[in-house]
Amino acid sequence: MKLPHHITIKNGHLHIGGHDCIALAVKYGTPLYVTSEDRVCEQFRSYQKALSKRYKKVQVLFAAKANGNLAVMRALSHLGAGADIFSSGELHLALGAGMQAEKLLFNGSSKTPDDLFLAVGNGIKVSVDSLDELHQLNAVAETAGKVAEIAFRVNPALDVPTHPKIATGLATSKFGIPHKEIPAAYREALACKNVNPVGLHCHIGSQILDIEPFARATEVMVRIAKDLTDMGVNLEFIDIGGGLGIPYHHDTDPAPTPEDYAARVVPVFKAGIEACGITPELWVEPGRSLVADSTVLLTRVNSTKAAHKRFANVDAGFNLLIRPAMYDAYHEVIVANKADAPLTTEYTVTGPICETGDILAHDRKLPPLASGDIIAVLDTGAYGYAMSSQYNSRPRCPEVLIQGDKESLMRRKETVSDLFATMECPPWQR
Ligand code: LLP
Repeated sequence: MKLPHHITIKNGHLHIGGHDCIALAVKYGTPLYVTSEDRVCEQFRSYQKALSKRYKKVQVLFAAKANGNLAVMRALSHLGAGADIFSSGELHLALGAGMQAEKLLFNGSSKTPDDLFLAVGNGIKVSVDSLDELHQLNAVAETAGKVAEIAFRVNPALDVPTHPKIATGLATSKFGIPHKEIPAAYREALACKNVNPVGLHCHIGSQILDIEPFARATEVMVRIAKDLTDMGVNLEFIDIGGGLGIPYHHDTDPAPTPEDYAARVVPVFKAGIEACGITPELWVEPGRSLVADSTVLLTRVNSTKAAHKRFANVDAGFNLLIRPAMYDAYHEVIVANKADAPLTTEYTVTGPICETGDILAHDRKLPPLASGDIIAVLDTGAYGYAMSSQYNSRPRCPEVLIQGDKESLMRRKETVSDLFATMECPPWQR
């Protein structure tokens, strides 16, 4: 199987960033998420380089929803990243990670008054999703004695080749304002005293392996930018979102790089803004393509069973990685302690959750398995731990960060006490 250069096999063991996965599993127990900080940084730098060599005014925002671990965000912050934040929680994490307020964009189709107050109070730009929200924000900013800088989220009505649950720019999607109504929205914003429209924003979907849809979305955005500029809007940034996919199937899927992406998208962007006579910043918001392949989820085989199929029952399920169950997402699996053994036997890798759909990997050829073997689930750094739960009252597993030859916990294991921590029995039960 094709592996990225930070994932290697030595003496039969899988290694990540030079660290033996089996040694990590022994030290920290399983299940265990292990993330390579060096890989995250490498991916961020690829975006920076690919974009900024083609256009000087670039800002890469990390989509914090993909991986909300403070240490991951701090590593990105040190490289100058901003963030696409989608909640007050993500706002606090981004600031906590040291990101500058001016590099954040508060996105979302359903913000609370508290979200709006927090954004305005911290001088964070808001991607406004409706006219209703515009007027609420204007009122909040007036109360706070501030002027809120905003973009509108454009719905470009673009069909993209991805799982329907993660296409976000369809005409029928809940996100954004239909592109034809965008000029009217800016007109309304210009009439609001406490709002200043300075940007334009869209995001068309996630896990997109074809570069063309990004070029089409950029075309829509610069076409709108022309109308807005003619109208007197002073656009300081155009944010074309995230969405670049990763090869689920390492040997066969296309693997577009940030370089491929930038080579196609930036010329469209530049031609468009030239026609407008403006030089706004170009913002992008990648999540998955920055962090997915930085991480492996290590899970122990509890038992095997030859029934209707051959099952390998492991200790991580959709409580820790919901993507296969939710989006039929394919994650490569490697038996970390038998990494160079012949793949002779077909297994379906199932988690410990009380649900038939709790399957991490269907019908995979693996070496013959025994209890105690450690399976590494690859490409779990995006929307992995971030979407985990305590379902079946299972405390979440720890996360370890590695960097060079160093390793450290970046999130401790939850305990049974954590299950009790937020609950209370009402007085009449005491
Ligand atoms: N910007 C906005 C406004 C977004 O909604 C998203 C993702 C991103 C950026 C980052 O997209 P990325 O570069 O990561 O594709 N949980 C799903 C993915 C949901 C994506 C939602 N929005 C999954 O596990 O596949």
